[in-house]
Amino acid sequence: MQLFLDTANPEEIRAVWPTGILDGVTTNPTLVAKEGRDFEELLREICALGVPSVSAEVVATDVDGMLREGRHLASLHPSIYVKCPMTTAGLAATKRLSAEGIRVNLTLVFSANQALLAAKVGAAYVSPFVGRLDDHGQDGMALVREIVGIYRNYRFPTQVLAASIRHPVHVVEAAKAGADIATMPYAVLEKLVHHPLTDLGLERFLKDWEKARKPMRVAAPGR
Ligand code: G3P
Repeated sequence: MQLFLDTANPEEIRAVWPTGILDGVTTNPTLVAKEGRDFEELLREICALGVPSVSAEVVATDVDGMLREGRHLASLHPSIYVKCPMTTAGLAATKRLSAEGIRVNLTLVFSANQALLAAKVGAAYVSPFVGRLDDHGQDGMALVREIVGIYRNYRFPTQVLAASIRHPVHVVEAAKAGADIATMPYAVLEKLVHHPLTDLGLERFLKDWEKARKPMRVAAPGR
């Protein structure tokens, strides 16, 4: 499973990128607005880090506007995936952009039928929002499982990108469900690395190592 950061903050990407665990970045208008910077400048900075997949969302709501913005965003860098919302206009724009070779991430997906439509119009990614469904009293991960099953039935090439991931258990569940990608905030990705028993184990190993080395250090100058 590919791991993406759900952020528009270049510092967070810089912090993770050298570890080699990061496959991509997803942004959305809320995350971009939080940075308070020029959108294009931000995208160029993120792409320049070498991230191979960077999702950038259109804000137009009509087909022509989405096409204009989508083409423009895609022209900024070869790593850009254009995010279109799951609306009738978003589906039409995805169909056209995909036919032009622009990769689209169909976002704000909350049902299996919506995901089926995303695959039909040739989206590169479909983004079911797991956490927001959970917040709504529905089982978000059940939707991911449904979509993976449907796509397998018809061998749709659209990749399932589990979005709105809120905690590490979501990541494990997305992997078990067969999601192609999970995108998560920096705080969640950080938590994947750590386990208290790892910290405790390392502390003990280092203490034991130090204890064993002490006599050797004392003996060394006398030789
Ligand atoms: O980028 C889309 C999605 O991951 C947003 O997550 O936490 O705002 O529901 P959240």
